[in-house]
Order: sequence, then C-alpha cells, then structure tokens
Amino acid sequence: MIKIHIIAGARPNFMKIAPIIKAIKKGQAKGKEIEFKLVHTGQHYDEKLSETFFKQLNIPAPDVNLEVGSGTQAQQTAQIMVKYEEYLIQNPCDIVLVVGDVNSTMACSIVAKKEHIDVAHVEGGIRSGDMTMPEEVNRKVTDSISDIFFTTSEYANDNLQKEGIKNEKVHYVGNTMIDTLVGNLDKLNKPGCWEEFGLTQGNYLVLTMHRPANVDEEHKLEEYIKVISEGITDKQVVFPVHPRTVKNLARIQDKYTNIHFIEPQGYLEFIYLIKDAFAVITDSGGIQEETTYLGVPCLTLRDNTERYETVSEGTNDLIGTNVANLKKALQKLFTEGWKKGDIPKYWDGQTAERIIEILTKIYK
Ligand code: UD1
Repeated sequence: MIKIHIIAGARPNFMKIAPIIKAIKKGQAKGKEIEFKLVHTGQHYDEKLSETFFKQLNIPAPDVNLEVGSGTQAQQTAQIMVKYEEYLIQNPCDIVLVVGDVNSTMACSIVAKKEHIDVAHVEGGIRSGDMTMPEEVNRKVTDSISDIFFTTSEYANDNLQKEGIKNEKVHYVGNTMIDTLVGNLDKLNKPGCWEEFGLTQGNYLVLTMHRPANVDEEHKLEEYIKVISEGITDKQVVFPVHPRTVKNLARIQDKYTNIHFIEPQGYLEFIYLIKDAFAVITDSGGIQEETTYLGVPCLTLRDNTERYETVSEGTNDLIGTNVANLKKALQKLFTEGWKKGDIPKYWDGQTAERIIEILTKIYK
C-alpha cells in the first residue's frame, strides 16, 4: 500500500489538489493500492480563501489542520515545519506530495526530506528568476530537495535540466489547475454582483492584485487603480480584493466609481467572471494560466513570469510594474485588440490521472 500525504495551505493549492484526490479515489475504486492523508497547514484560514474552495471543489475534510495562520515569512514557515514534523512522525508515509510555491510547499518539503521521505513536487521547475518573490525562494528550495517532479511546461523541464536534475525524475504531465478548470466549466455559478452591476459578456474587466510589491504601498496601489479607472473607456472593472490588499484600498477606493471592489469570490463564481470578461488585469500566477486556457486577454502586472508558456503560446502579456506601461497596454487593448492564444500541451484535464499512474508505477 502506497501512503501519500497531500499538502495544501493556501488558496491556489486547493485547485491543484482537488483533481489529484479525485484521481486517487478513482484508482482505489479500480483496486490500486494507494491511500492518502490530506494535510491543511492553515496558512489560509478565512472561509472565503479556504472552506468555500473545499465545498465547491468537493475536497474531503482534511485529516488534520495545523492551524498555523498568518505571520512573517519566517514565523509562518517555522510554524508549519514544527507542526508538520510532529504530525509526520506520528503518521508516517511513503511520499509527501506538495503543489505550487507557497510557504506550506517549501516548509513541508524540508520536513519530509529530513525524515527521509520522498518529496513529489507538482508544478516543479517553474522559475521567474526573481529572487525578491517569496514564491521563487520556495520553488528553488523545494526543487533542490524533491525526488519526483511533475511539470507543466517545456520551460520547467529545461530549468530542471539546467539545475542538474536527472531526466528520469522529471515527468511532463500538464497542469492540475487546468484539470479543475476543465472539470468545472459546466458547474459555474453566476456571482451575486452580476445583476447588481449590470454585467454582460465583455462589458467589464476583472482585476486582481495581491503581490507585496504591488499592494503594500498605498500610493503605488493608487497609481495602478487610477490608470485602470481612466483607461477602460466605457467599461467597468470588477475587483475581488485579497485580504492583503484591503487595508491600502480603504482610503482611496470611493474615488473610483467605475471599479467595483468586492469580496474574494468562490472558485465557481470567479471563473464565471473571468470567462466572460473583456480582459483580465492581474499579478496572480494561476490566473495567467486560466485566462490562457479560456482565451481571455491577460495583462500581467509583473516584470517576469514563471509561467512563460502563457506569454509565448497563450493570451498573457507581461505589462511590468511601471504604470506608464499599463496605460499603453490598455490603449492597445482598446484600439488594436489582443493576440489570440493557444492552449499549451497536456493542459487537457487529465494531468492528475497521469500523476497517479506514474506514482503507482514508481512505488508499486
Ligand atoms: C499567499 C502565497 C501566494 C499566493 C497567495 C494566494 C506565500 C509566500 N504566498 O500569499 O503565493 O499567490 O497566497 O492568495 O505562500 N490573510 C487573511 N486571511 C487568510 C489568510 C491571510 O486575512 O485566510 C491575511 C494575512 O493576515 C496577511 C495577508 O492576508 O495580512 C497575507 O497572507 P499570507 O498567507 O501571508 O500570504 P498571501 O499574500 O495570501
């Protein structure tokens, strides 16, 4: 019997683990000798960032919630390590499966490796090259000690090769976040704000911002909001606000009446919004992928991306963090339109099944 711990801590993890759990259950039903425990670190704890996703994506209740909560980078990482080590020692397993690049990903990988347990990293190998992002540190540390890499792109494969990872450890399987998207497209919910703001297909843009570099200074955040508010012609913007961004919007948001500041949305409501949006402006990682799959123009407020296939093949473009560039990009969007993209290889809804197939072969 293969025993796996699946680690999830923050919002973007939940979309990535849901299809993996589904694939394990399907494997079990076919007699595969595999079982899992779901470990929620508690990095995200608000209902809107966590529980809603468990309900909507049919993720079973976690076997344990380490309830680490918020803190500085080191506090949060350290809390996760201390609490997960205790749990792992009491509940040993063969593989610790981590996803993405959040603090929970790195913290649990380190704990697992020091307990001599294999680490499988789903979404291994992606690199922004920007070491000021906590996620980049998390990715590099996690990959430096992982035993199995499940990758989303050729770029990721190349990065791992350059870092000296042996080819046989790397499995190019596609994107589990896209599995969740594909599996839920016929289940989306119209959000409450749809009627309230008179939204119709293509008459609005969606905005999300939560990167420390973009939102932690009020005046920088306001520069973005002002340029967006002035640059969207007769359209409106729907902005589901991440908790990190709330405080620096408090004093400024009332000035911009064509931007609707709303609470974080559930998964099924958020995808409903982006699917029909004229365009999306974001600094998220995952949304660059979701817009590429859906063929919606994406303007990314970052100077780099670890998901380069969304630029080279998809509908994403890097606008940077200089508001003058954003102004120009909006002008281009409204006058010339935007590129049409393709869907990257293996982003087909079957990635989690490939992962479980591979894991059961390796550990049989
Ligand atoms: C984390 C991830 C980031 C991911 C993002 C998605 C890291 C380093 N960052 O960033 O990669 O894109 O999640 O949301 O792991 N807070 C709440 N309620 C919660 C959780 C957090 O109010 O449930 C508040 C915290 O008090 C803090 C802020 O939100 O002020 C940031 O939370 P934190 O978990 O540190 O990082 P995120 O910015 O959410």
